[in-house]
Amino acid sequence: MSYKRISFETKENIAYVGMGYNCTKAMTVLDEETLNELQDIVEELHGNASSLKGVIFHSHKERCFIAGADINLISSMKTEADGQAGSEAGQKILNRIEDLKVTTIACVGGVCLGGGLELALSCKKIITSDDKSVQLGLPEVKLGIIPGFGGTYRLPKKVGLPTALDMILSGKTLDGRKGKKVGLVEETYAKERLLDMALKHFGKSEKKKSFKESLEDLATDNVLTKKIIFQKARESVLKKTKGFYQAPLKILDVMEAGVMKGRASYLASEAEAFGELCVGDQSKNLQHIFFMVESSKKYPGVKGEGKVKKLERGACLGAGTMGGGIAWLMAKNDMKPIMKDLNQGGLELGLKQSASNFMGALKRKRLSYDDFERMQRSIIAQTDFRGFGHVDLVIEAVVENMDIKKKVFAEVETKVSKDAILTSNTSSLSIQEMSTALEDSSRFAGLHFFNPVHMMPLVEIITHDNASPETVEALYNWVLKTKKTPVVVKDGPGFLVNRILMPFMNEAGFLLEEGVSMKDIDDACLNFGMPMGPCRLLDEVGIDVGQKVAKIIHDGLGDRAASSSLTGKLVEKGFLGRKTSKGFYIYDENGKVAGPNAEALAIFPKASKKMTEVEIQKRIFLPMINEAATVLEDKIVENAMAVDLGLIFGIGFPPFRGGLLKYADSEGLERIQAELVSHAESVDKARYTPCKLINDLVAQKKKFYEF
Ligand SMILES: NC(=O)c1ccc[n+]([C@@H]2O[C@H](COP(=O)([O-])OP(=O)(O)OC[C@H]3O[C@@H](n4cnc5c(N)ncnc54)[C@H](O)[C@@H]3O)[C@@H](O)[C@H]2O)c1
Repeated sequence: MSYKRISFETKENIAYVGMGYNCTKAMTVLDEETLNELQDIVEELHGNASSLKGVIFHSHKERCFIAGADINLISSMKTEADGQAGSEAGQKILNRIEDLKVTTIACVGGVCLGGGLELALSCKKIITSDDKSVQLGLPEVKLGIIPGFGGTYRLPKKVGLPTALDMILSGKTLDGRKGKKVGLVEETYAKERLLDMALKHFGKSEKKKSFKESLEDLATDNVLTKKIIFQKARESVLKKTKGFYQAPLKILDVMEAGVMKGRASYLASEAEAFGELCVGDQSKNLQHIFFMVESSKKYPGVKGEGKVKKLERGACLGAGTMGGGIAWLMAKNDMKPIMKDLNQGGLELGLKQSASNFMGALKRKRLSYDDFERMQRSIIAQTDFRGFGHVDLVIEAVVENMDIKKKVFAEVETKVSKDAILTSNTSSLSIQEMSTALEDSSRFAGLHFFNPVHMMPLVEIITHDNASPETVEALYNWVLKTKKTPVVVKDGPGFLVNRILMPFMNEAGFLLEEGVSMKDIDDACLNFGMPMGPCRLLDEVGIDVGQKVAKIIHDGLGDRAASSSLTGKLVEKGFLGRKTSKGFYIYDENGKVAGPNAEALAIFPKASKKMTEVEIQKRIFLPMINEAATVLEDKIVENAMAVDLGLIFGIGFPPFRGGLLKYADSEGLERIQAELVSHAESVDKARYTPCKLINDLVAQKKKFYEF
């Protein structure tokens, strides 16, 4: 039989099954057609088994074995029964591979995730290349599902229960070397020799476990120890996810209940759980995020006619909190950056910042010491403009002052080449106005990083009337290259994220004024799934910084963006947040919260008003939805997806809710509108009156995602 998606040939009694055959995409996935062909091939293998010495599963792609099951297939599941049947169909094929009487070897030269690793696990042996591109893992939990092709059954048998739980519950990946260390991988080889070396494994018995591994197996292979392992894993999941996520708990249920089960009954419960989870709201929301992220990997804007510049050499103006982080990012991406500040003292701070980011990666073993040295040393710290003529990208991160920034741009423009791209990391100043400082503003845009640069994945690219499409596209490509998530935003007060964050912070101030306790406010937001409550977040940002940004947004948007006077009182007292060890909370010498700041609480009205958690949540999230709608109305971003991507990656809006506007759509816009109207009457007209877009969408019976 001939196949289109998988190559299949037999040479010297060895069958070669090649994934990614005729595949033009970078990654091979297990889609319906591939699974159908795999099923037929496996039946052929069973038919020829008596004449075979062994089977090698390999890939035609250098950097991918199989990246997983096709997510389109998963998201097409409409009912639990569909999901369960899909899972059972995959399990059946992999069971047939496991049941082959001959030696089966998975030769993994690159990405081997989800269904890909499940296929590899059904082989008797896994060998991998020693290339960096090898990634072995079961990341299904990140999509709110359980691995559905027998992964939860087979992985513990290979690597032991604790390692399997760690991998399955976190979705983390291992390279070949680490895979070998935990017993998942038999051997690693140079990628050019991988297929040849597979032949050496025929006739060899499976690798014997080391004495240490056998001892570990013995220690964990009894009912009592397993019970303790599951209990600890459950505690850790609850701590990490605060109980918001169903999938890891379901995975634990299936794996724990399956300890004594045989293959058929274990896999039946895995398939049932897969069906249940894959059509649930959480998984649908997480799948939605996956698709958003995938679509953000392609520049969405208008293309210009000119050449899109590759940004290879970079410079950063200002070596403060942000400058140090930006120089680190440039160095990490081999841009040999120049970091310029006014004096040596400033430069030292920036160098310290970048070194501390690299040290973090070094400690977590994500970076070798040699690479740390090389990258940190590649940052050229200086107080003049030497070398600026050779850079492709300048990111300005000097003090937040329009006059200073304009002067800086007027000067730097005379030092760089004609086609260098110039950007500002301003968090609140008008990009449109700043652009007037440049002779050629077509090569200028805002590039708004969030603090801390090494942790925050979002970058807003802020356009203005004269920014050329080539400039915006070059910046978009560069942000993607640094592995961050770009969102293109039109200039306006607070751009995208800070504008929608504004009601989150402001409303907390008004609630405090009304006598709601700080703890109730922050807890209500945490229990909604936010990573921090608004008071805690203000401490993190700096209450003085928050106040300045709030003023700019208030000036730009009017009454609905007014803020409470309480933050001003904190600033007067010098309670600026974590950086001064006192804000809404007090902080210990390690910067950890040590409790509420009693002196701050004394400034607020007595916390005598009891409000339900749901009411506090409505007070805070309704005006955020309203503001997000005005962002769409004002065409600050193209669509609802950009808003949701911005808030998930910019402020950690709870991913399981799919994004603020996805959440609003699922609640129903009619309900949101009615709640806003009632709050406009009972709380404040300016802050809660539904905006035109919400009224229009309700009248047209449409959702944000249909706008
Ligand atoms: N800190 C944040 O949380 C954050 C987040 C996003 C954006 N931003 C923006 O980033 C920019 C920098 O903020 P920061 O927090 O890093 O400030 P910072 O005060 O820590 O650092 C500013 C640095 O710029 C230097 N500087 C001043 N004038 C200069 C000039 N002419 N040439 C070179 N260096 C000069 C200063 O010496 C100082 O080292 C601001 O526009 C701010 O709004 C800050």
